[in-house]
Amino acid sequence: MGAKIGCVTGADMGLGWELTKLGLEKGYDMVALVLREDGEKICGLSAAYPGKLTILGVDVTDEGAVEGAAATVAQKFPCVDFIVNNAGVLFGSKYDKIDEIVDLDVAKFRRTLDVNVTGMAIVLKYFMPLIYKSASPVVVNITSEAGYLASGGHNYLSYSVSKYAANMYSQKILNYLRSERPDLHVRLFMMHPGRMQTVMGAENAQIEPSESARGIYRVIDGEVDPQLDIPFINYKGEAMPH
Ligand SMILES: NC(=O)c1ccc[n+]([C@@H]2O[C@H](COP(=O)([O-])OP(=O)(O)OC[C@H]3O[C@@H](n4cnc5c(N)ncnc54)[C@H](OP(=O)(O)O)[C@@H]3O)[C@@H](O)[C@H]2O)c1
Repeated sequence: MGAKIGCVTGADMGLGWELTKLGLEKGYDMVALVLREDGEKICGLSAAYPGKLTILGVDVTDEGAVEGAAATVAQKFPCVDFIVNNAGVLFGSKYDKIDEIVDLDVAKFRRTLDVNVTGMAIVLKYFMPLIYKSASPVVVNITSEAGYLASGGHNYLSYSVSKYAANMYSQKILNYLRSERPDLHVRLFMMHPGRMQTVMGAENAQIEPSESARGIYRVIDGEVDPQLDIPFINYKGEAMPH
């Protein structure tokens, strides 16, 4: 069997970039979906691993662009073995002093749901046919510890709503795959990647995104294989509350 073929969304920086880099280090062929094809960091990886990285400029909320990207990948590769839906946005801060209801920024609420939920669904709509062709397919949807019902905490309102919805979306498609397409043996996880030192995570950071990426690959590569009815896990493969 040849090298695995992996795809990561939001690979410009943060966790997405680390996942792309580590995949290349492992010898995998990587596809990076990024907002800007000419980003310095991602182009640096392309130079370091000639011929192993395909960079495609895609806003995950742009259905036509995602469809085009999937068509490009289909021309180049027979399948995609794993995909990490990592692209995400978080607007606001835990230090914001606002009335969460009355002061809601509707445009940011909409954009958060669009990127974090609809974007994930659009990417899988067009990339799942390539995943279906893999002998050992894996889908990792990066959600968050913010994505479950809890009786305390009111920070990151729009973001939490989006991650809860992303978990629901993930479980629903997993239920579908388990009941209607068991022959495909798709391993699907929704994952909290840890509180990472990234642009998004700086105000709560506990770990480097490189540590999270290593854990995520242990799941992708099957070294850690949680068997859970609801596979909402952290980057170590441990079950998350839901
Ligand atoms: N950091 C944490 O502590 C933490 C905790 C829990 C969950 N997460 C989740 O982990 C994932 C990665 O987070 P991170 O900390 O690495 O965030 P980050 O550093 O802010 O990176 C997010 C990436 O997503 C890209 N992106 C944003 N909107 C996009 C769009 N519409 N289409 C394509 N790409 C888009 C960004 O591109 P640009 O750079 O070009 O804007 C960037 O590359 C996210 O889903 C996040 O919600 C993070």
